[in-house]
Amino acid sequence: MAEKPIGIIGAMATEVEALLAAMQEEKVEEFSGLAFHSGTLEGVACVVAECGPGKVNAAVCAQTMVLRYSPRLVINVGVAGGVGPQVHIGDLVVAAACVQYDFDTTAMGDPLGTLFIRRASGENEDILLLPCCEEAAGLLLKEARSIYGGAHFGVICTGDVFVADAEKNQFLQEKFEAHAVEMEGGAIAQVCYMNSVPCAVLRAISDCANDDSPMDFPAFTKMAAEKTGKLLGAVLPRL
Ligand code: ADE
Repeated sequence: MAEKPIGIIGAMATEVEALLAAMQEEKVEEFSGLAFHSGTLEGVACVVAECGPGKVNAAVCAQTMVLRYSPRLVINVGVAGGVGPQVHIGDLVVAAACVQYDFDTTAMGDPLGTLFIRRASGENEDILLLPCCEEAAGLLLKEARSIYGGAHFGVICTGDVFVADAEKNQFLQEKFEAHAVEMEGGAIAQVCYMNSVPCAVLRAISDCANDDSPMDFPAFTKMAAEKTGKLLGAVLPRL
C-alpha cells in the first residue's frame, strides 16, 4: 500500500503557494468544492489544500482530507496575530494545544471554549484544550529556533474573528496563556482529535492582534507565510 501522506492545510493562497510551487508529481482532485493537491515535497508524500478563512471552512477541509487521503499527520500552516508582549511580528509559534475561544456556553456554567464531543460508543467528552502531536511540535519548534530564533511554544487561540483589539489580546493571554490568535487551527485540531489523527499547528506572526493589525496584516503576511513554508520544507523529511 502507498505511504500515507502528510496533510497540509492553509487558509489563504499566500499560506500554501510556496509549498504548491515546490510540489512534485502533483495531482489535483476536487472534493467538497476544494482543491486537494497530492504529490511529494522534499521526497515526502503530501496532500496540500487551501481551505479559506474560518473554522467551518477549516473543518470541512480537514474532515474531507481525513476521509479521502487518510493522512498520518495534518499540519495547519499560516499566519497569526501575536498574543502577549513577548510575541513579535515575524516570530514563529508552534501549538502545544488549541482553544476555540469563541465557543461560549459560559451562561450554562461551562468554562469558555469547552467543546462537546459525541462518540458512537457513548463515551462523550467535554474538552477545552485540543492537543497537538508532541513529536511533530517538538521537531517544528527545534527547527524554528535553529533557523529563526524567535519561536514560541504554547496555546494558540482560534475563533471566527480577526482580532484587532489590544484588550481582547490581553484577555486571551490572561485567560488561556495564549501566544497567537488565528481562525482555523482549533477547528482542524478538533477534526483531527475526533478522527484520532495527529495534528500540528505552525504559525508565523503577521500582526500583533491590536489597533495596528489592519495595516500590519497586509504588510507582513507574505513575509510571515514564506517563513512557515520554508520551515516546513526543512522539517518534512523528519516527520
Ligand atoms: N490571522 C492573522 N492575524 C490575525 C488576527 N489578528 N486575528 C485573527 N486571525 C489572524
